[in-house]
Amino acid sequence: MSLEVRPQMENGFFAEIYGADLTQCDDGQFDEIRQAHLRHGVIVIRDQALSPDQQIAFSQRFGPLSIHVLEEQLLVGYPEILLVTNKKENGRYLGIPDLGRQWHTDQSYQETPALGSLLYALEVPGDGSGDTHFADMTAAYEALPQGERERLDGLQAEHRYDHKHENFELSDNQVDRLPGVLHPLIRTHPETGRKALYLGVQLVKRIVGLSPDDSTETLERLYAHCTQPTFVHRHKWRKGDLVFWDNRCTMHAAQPYDDQRVTRHMHRTTVVGERPF
Ligand code: SIN
Repeated sequence: MSLEVRPQMENGFFAEIYGADLTQCDDGQFDEIRQAHLRHGVIVIRDQALSPDQQIAFSQRFGPLSIHVLEEQLLVGYPEILLVTNKKENGRYLGIPDLGRQWHTDQSYQETPALGSLLYALEVPGDGSGDTHFADMTAAYEALPQGERERLDGLQAEHRYDHKHENFELSDNQVDRLPGVLHPLIRTHPETGRKALYLGVQLVKRIVGLSPDDSTETLERLYAHCTQPTFVHRHKWRKGDLVFWDNRCTMHAAQPYDDQRVTRHMHRTTVVGERPF
């Protein structure tokens, strides 16, 4: 059966997909999902019921999965699954309640950052909080004036993960394993060939070759540009959503929720990508 694909933004960014059962997705349906992911940048496949094994098996069809550096926040027995949750056991958070609150793209601090991430909602806040915002970095790039695109093309930015989380900070060993990396400020999507801005508020430390003031001013201007409502879709989570975003051409930011009152419990798998160019 063919899937129903409903784009949410006028230019086609972010699509909702209905009619899929990912526990029995044949090659034809898988190809439709892959094409939708490339076409729309972010897709939400609604109404899924996935065990950890099933989520891993589906995610692996897009490529090898990465094991996140935050070993303490992985699902026991399933190192491919990062726990994005405010659930606690014996008074300790099982995962990361405040993951990704600032605009970013996943694992940009590594040489080969994530191609895509699949976040599966097992429990969502009953009060409607905890949305995720997604920004279309291809459209944002294409909307820049020609002169600005030419000025930015060829520049590189330094990405490094060193910020603290609400409930923990990186260990010395993790910091040693994450020395930071340079990536192009404008990257070309390896499959669509389209260019996109490649940024992250806490992760991008500077633009190489610019003075500190010029770098800060340029980054602030670019964040203000990319996060205008015209480039951003706000996703309201439902239990059973599997959201799959393309980290090569989008940014996202998780919105806060009251983690003392409501539960937001999600499993994330992450597909390894190629070195940005
Ligand atoms: C993430 O950045 O992977 C988490 C996003 C979210 O929790 O909405």
